[in-house]
Amino acid sequence: MATYVMTGGSSGFGALSAASLAGPPQTRVIVGARSPVDRADAMDVTSLDSVRAFAASVRERLGDSRIDGLLLNAGGIRPDADGRTADGYETTFVLNHLGHYLLTRLLLPVLAPGARIVLTTSGTHDPATKASLAVPRHADADLLAHPDRDPDRDSKPRRAGQRAYTAAKLCAILNARALRTRAEVRERDATVIAYDPGQVFGTGLVRDLPAPMRAAWAVLGTGAGAPLRRFQPTLNTAKAAGQALTDLADGSRRAPDERGYAALRSGSLTWIDPSTLAVRDDLADALWADSARLVGLDGAASG
Ligand SMILES: NC(=O)c1ccc[n+]([C@@H]2O[C@H](COP(=O)([O-])OP(=O)(O)OC[C@H]3O[C@@H](n4cnc5c(N)ncnc54)[C@H](OP(=O)(O)O)[C@@H]3O)[C@@H](O)[C@H]2O)c1
Repeated sequence: MATYVMTGGSSGFGALSAASLAGPPQTRVIVGARSPVDRADAMDVTSLDSVRAFAASVRERLGDSRIDGLLLNAGGIRPDADGRTADGYETTFVLNHLGHYLLTRLLLPVLAPGARIVLTTSGTHDPATKASLAVPRHADADLLAHPDRDPDRDSKPRRAGQRAYTAAKLCAILNARALRTRAEVRERDATVIAYDPGQVFGTGLVRDLPAPMRAAWAVLGTGAGAPLRRFQPTLNTAKAAGQALTDLADGSRRAPDERGYAALRSGSLTWIDPSTLAVRDDLADALWADSARLVGLDGAASG
């Protein structure tokens, strides 16, 4: 039996992926989600206690079986960087990076040989994408968890919220980079991919943003968005984004030449380079160690 564990499988394009992964017989998909939906166990990725409880429940359910695919797809953007989790950290950073970091650490020992880990990131982390969001200045976990301590923090809430999102997505790519060096990953010959789905209108991603943005996002998610997709390769349908996530997680799409960043362009997976910050080993090592400290785990630089 193939077993997949997933966050962000309750709605958006992740729900399409969860459904397609669960299609074949002898397949089990365990989704950690805030709301009770098919295949879901309760889990709020912004609560470290909730992530710990979910990981414990997954390990209990696994028994002697192992995880073939771990999909870390939950995410979201907020209108500011003022939210704080119960653990006292900035919400966007925890939602898009730190909660997944903890979940991955707790589940690494129960990965199957040849397992795939897919972390959903965003091309908005890269200035070269020329998205309209403020781009990351750094991937310093302490400053991202505590933006009030950042001497260069944005004074405008909207910019701060955008930068919190793009920086957390940069962290997801650096986390993938650090994961590839871990003993638990190498011993199992596991694959780690950071996945950029491009821009996917019509999902719940902008649910916390102002009404005009939500309305435009919803309309462009209908057939009205189709003409735009013809001219802009970064625009993808939810169906294509969900299928690409499935293909990476079930191993039907493999990275060429050990590349670790997959970007969906015009509905097809491409293996472009992420940003210059995202390929720095020093940043990946520092993020690993600092994230470990924030979640109360050992953070040796490489495993
Ligand atoms: N749409 C895009 O243009 C785009 C572009 C680049 C990257 N992405 C990334 O792609 C992923 C999926 O996004 P989407 O567009 O499909 O948006 P979405 O419809 O909002 O889906 C987000 C998923 O994350 C889950 N989630 C949010 N907060 C959570 C929490 N605190 N605990 C547990 N689960 C939580 C949501 O669960 P609920 O069902 O409970 O809300 C949902 O399943 C995200 O990581 C997003 O950042 C999206």
